[in-house]
Amino acid sequence: MNELIKRIKMFRNNHPAGDENADNEKNIREKINLKVFRTNGKSESHFDTFEIPIMRWTTVLDALLHAKSYCDSSIGIRYSCRMASCGSCGMKINGIPRLACYTKISELKGGIVSCEPLANFPQIRDLVTDFSVFFNHHKQIQPFIQNENIQTEDREVLTEYIQKPEDVDKYLQFSYCIKCGLCYSACPTVATDTKFPGPQALSQAYRYSVDNRDNALGKRQNIIDDRHGIWRCHFAGSCSAVCPKGVDPALGIQLLRGHMLRFSKNEQKLAELQDRGLDKS
Ligand code: SF4
Ligand code: FES
Repeated sequence: MNELIKRIKMFRNNHPAGDENADNEKNIREKINLKVFRTNGKSESHFDTFEIPIMRWTTVLDALLHAKSYCDSSIGIRYSCRMASCGSCGMKINGIPRLACYTKISELKGGIVSCEPLANFPQIRDLVTDFSVFFNHHKQIQPFIQNENIQTEDREVLTEYIQKPEDVDKYLQFSYCIKCGLCYSACPTVATDTKFPGPQALSQAYRYSVDNRDNALGKRQNIIDDRHGIWRCHFAGSCSAVCPKGVDPALGIQLLRGHMLRFSKNEQKLAELQDRGLDKS
């Protein structure tokens, strides 16, 4: 997993936004070798390699669909929107968790592009992984607005809940999450503890805790403040580096930690933070 974090950091450092076009110029090729991870969960896994013609705009998903249409129809992949919205085409591309529909071959160096299933998810077949545990963590933090002081049944007293732009700014970037699981796959804590909710669920817990229409942090507290909860994060930051939607889950986790210091029952952790002068409550 350390190797993965190193590669994610190199990926971030090597791709400053301004140099992307220059990189693209260097990477124009007519064909590539596409290495696809194959498994059916029973026999031993292996890679199959396909030679795929590419254009300047070909994405990794286009290349996989070409392989599926013209070389081997049994390749297992999951996708839907083809526009980085549904979050279903996540996979490791050249070792980094990315969306296949959002990764152009011209962004990648070398003549070989390898596609593997996301780490930290059980494999189902080829590039398709099982998201049940991931979605369960998401569900457990109750990602919806709850407020027992708001009357929702009597239509006579229903009113608009007005928010100022600065109220929306507090949670806006976190609401762009498409639940693609790339951050979860890049997280070294998830790799060692599947009970850890992971960067996606924790950043969503933060999103609802700072929404001034919601007052249910108390209900989410048991999950967040658990021994497998938020205190397990050691801020590797790889979650934020791979997020395709500009959400910064590592930031959300740190802000939520600050929030939790007022409520936490985790006395050992609070004492540690107080010793280090980090608890200002
Ligand atoms: S935070 Fe980003 S990487 Fe994680 S699930 Fe949401 S969109 Fe995907
Ligand atoms: S196919 Fe929907 S995000 Fe890639």
